[in-house]
Amino acid sequence: MEKEIVKPAEGRLGILVVGCGAVATTFMTGVLMARKGLAKPIGSMTQYDKIRVGRGKEKKYLHYGDIVSLTKLDDIVFGCWDVYPQNAYQAAVYAEVLKQKDIDPVRDELELIKPMKAAFDKNYAKRLDGDNVKDCATRWDMVEQIRQDIRDFKAKNDCARIVVIWAASTEIYVPYYEPIHGKLDTLVAAMKADDREHIAPSMCYAYAALQEDAPFIMGAPNTTVDIPAMWQLAEEKRLPIAGKDFKTGQTLVKSGFAPILKVRNLGLSGWFSTNILGNRDGLVLDEPANFHTKEVSKLSTLETILRKDDQPDLYGNIYHKVRINYYPPRNDNKEGWDNLDIFGWMGYPMQIKINFLCRDSILAAPLLLDLTLLSDLAHRAGRYGIQRFLSFFLKSPMHDYTQGEEAVNNLFEQYTMLKNAIREMGGYEADEEVD
Ligand SMILES: NC(=O)c1ccc[n+]([C@@H]2O[C@H](COP(=O)([O-])OP(=O)(O)OC[C@H]3O[C@@H](n4cnc5c(N)ncnc54)[C@H](O)[C@@H]3O)[C@@H](O)[C@H]2O)c1
Repeated sequence: MEKEIVKPAEGRLGILVVGCGAVATTFMTGVLMARKGLAKPIGSMTQYDKIRVGRGKEKKYLHYGDIVSLTKLDDIVFGCWDVYPQNAYQAAVYAEVLKQKDIDPVRDELELIKPMKAAFDKNYAKRLDGDNVKDCATRWDMVEQIRQDIRDFKAKNDCARIVVIWAASTEIYVPYYEPIHGKLDTLVAAMKADDREHIAPSMCYAYAALQEDAPFIMGAPNTTVDIPAMWQLAEEKRLPIAGKDFKTGQTLVKSGFAPILKVRNLGLSGWFSTNILGNRDGLVLDEPANFHTKEVSKLSTLETILRKDDQPDLYGNIYHKVRINYYPPRNDNKEGWDNLDIFGWMGYPMQIKINFLCRDSILAAPLLLDLTLLSDLAHRAGRYGIQRFLSFFLKSPMHDYTQGEEAVNNLFEQYTMLKNAIREMGGYEADEEVD
């Protein structure tokens, strides 16, 4: 097989994070601590996972970095935008995810990460009231200002490449609207006409990033890059996109647990997921319009794993419900409960309860590292458009719904796609079947 040509990861990689909240600062602090040897980037596939390449006598198990050229942690430079002006050190302390002892050794570096003014519209997140916000005449002006920020950051920090990742609050639900989101020229026209109803600020970040040769990743469930207009832009600019919504806690469990029922042919009549969390993310999601965006993203997981059409006796009538409750005392330490009503031989009912006491940002941080490094890799490998191999990390994997394509949500099928892509970019055969 012909070897894919991947440009080596030379020079510095600028990672620009939209949002400087709990997730963003936990990610940045962890990377800075890891490169000083003071913490371990646990949970990160790019730093830990080993996959098989070759078969038979040729078989080897290698880290991703030994198969393909990956950016080293030492070569990362961070920047960010936020509605609040606090630097990354202050924001990390405010978030109360990490202990002071795990932040202080990199305090100086974090203090240098000062949020650029946010491209923000209060109508998209009513519960936020920071004033570190750009003054934008139109959505198009918003795009231009973000593009300038990216150019300035790249020059000032001597970066060879940039990746932009959204770890800002969830915006209100913007339904896909074909007359505007369907094509690139209609999207641009709407930005120029300052159509604030159909053009979310996140779309301005994504558009600006892609214009500036930077892959864009959507960590929240916003309608942003999952519209044909953005796919068109990514294809034209030959840039990778992926998205959306980091798959961290309950959905990770769901996409890993549902396959157990599937492979043992057990039935499912209901799956109720609820959780309590008290961070700023929870506060924003307490607003029904913002929660709806999350709900749509979380609900899509089961139906593509446990298929009604394939097994009507088992999965013909599933009641799936997802709840998020804002509860300040828990802060970032989310507690999730899942109740599964299943049935077995002759239809006899049983129940499974899963109680996950997790830490939201601790689970999300490695995903930001992997998604940014792997998007940068895909870019250097000349891959562009929707990167299906990144579905592993996302609650709503991107797929071309206009062509009837269905997303792959099964965690193990997603893992196979990830491994095959790494193999292929490393010049090995993508030799594992996705069943
Ligand atoms: N932690 C997880 O497990 C997880 C999983 C999936 C998705 N997410 C998503 O990641 C995002 C970040 O979560 P978090 O806990 O860090 O939230 P957070 O509230 O601590 O941080 C978000 C930050 O984004 C800023 N912001 C909002 N709109 C902005 C804009 N237009 N431009 C720039 N900054 C903006 C806010 O001021 C805030 O500081 C949320 O959308 C959340 O839903 C988190």
